[in-house]
Amino acid sequence: MEEVQAKKKLFSAVQPSGAVTIGNYIGAIRNFVALQDEYDCLYAVADLHAITVRQEPAALRRNTLSLMALFIACGVDPEKCVLFVQSHVPAHCELTWVLNTITYPGELSRMTQFKDKSAKHADNVNMGLMDYPVLMVSDILLYQAALVPIGADQKQHLELTRDLAIRFNNRYGATFTVPEGYFPKGSSARIMSLADPARKMSKSDENPNGFVTMDDDKDTVLRKFKRAVTDSEAEVRYDPVNKPGVSNLLTIYTAFTGKSTEEAEREFAGKGYGDFKLAVGETVADALAPVREEKARLLADKGYLNAVMKRGEEAAARIARRTLSKVYRKVGFYTGD
Ligand code: TRP
Repeated sequence: MEEVQAKKKLFSAVQPSGAVTIGNYIGAIRNFVALQDEYDCLYAVADLHAITVRQEPAALRRNTLSLMALFIACGVDPEKCVLFVQSHVPAHCELTWVLNTITYPGELSRMTQFKDKSAKHADNVNMGLMDYPVLMVSDILLYQAALVPIGADQKQHLELTRDLAIRFNNRYGATFTVPEGYFPKGSSARIMSLADPARKMSKSDENPNGFVTMDDDKDTVLRKFKRAVTDSEAEVRYDPVNKPGVSNLLTIYTAFTGKSTEEAEREFAGKGYGDFKLAVGETVADALAPVREEKARLLADKGYLNAVMKRGEEAAARIARRTLSKVYRKVGFYTGD
């Protein structure tokens, strides 16, 4: 008889640290939706990670709810996925403690992201910032995730996840699934700043014209695209080295329309940059409008969002508890039996 194959488990998370840009949407949230039918998906709002840099408490609370609403508004379906808030499931911290005891300080101090963030937040280089990758390892290993969709900047953290899973399994016996990174087609597209296409689009850009957020209204979106930096040629052609601005706009356009780069180039052949930027702006604005409306509707229904989070917490905690009990037994904690 044919065996029914269980779907592979997939885990990912996003930090609730403020505005979500279209870069975050294209690189992460959009794929969460595309993957939810094929895999058993767990998606978390990583608030424990967020506090490794200073957060204003009221803003963190607001951003957590807002990110939860955005996930759902973008199409992440709480009926299909386990959607939850990281701090609601204590096992993340509990497993982090155990894994800390098999992690070497050198592994953490040489992480690129730790070095970057330490430089950026020189007044607040705390142990949590250094331990951030171990918390991320725990997120993934608790759910025995086989696949982890991540951006390029998280690759080192995924390597550590694999290293620690193998190290623990070797020391204490088979316990954890060793996960793989997952890079869905098109997700490697790095979305660059509209104001400086040499830099990644970031919500912390001091120039607000550099980034477009999921909350921007039509006028704002159009204005930002109108000001987007291009070049002195007048040819819409994909060439990231010589034409980074235009290429970035093409990447955004194809991400939102599903068209190929060649199709897009053909569409704008012979047209000026003004028309091109307007078309990209309108495409993005029209795509964001229904998401923004749905998000507002959800945020007005806190009871529903709370219920989704509660359900997610319970489902996540059930799986996490199972892994954590196994870990506690393996390391020799007395469990009474
Ligand atoms: N560190 C990730 C980021 O900032 C977010 C994250 C936390 C995550 N835990 C995770 C991503 C587990 C994948 C798996 O992008």
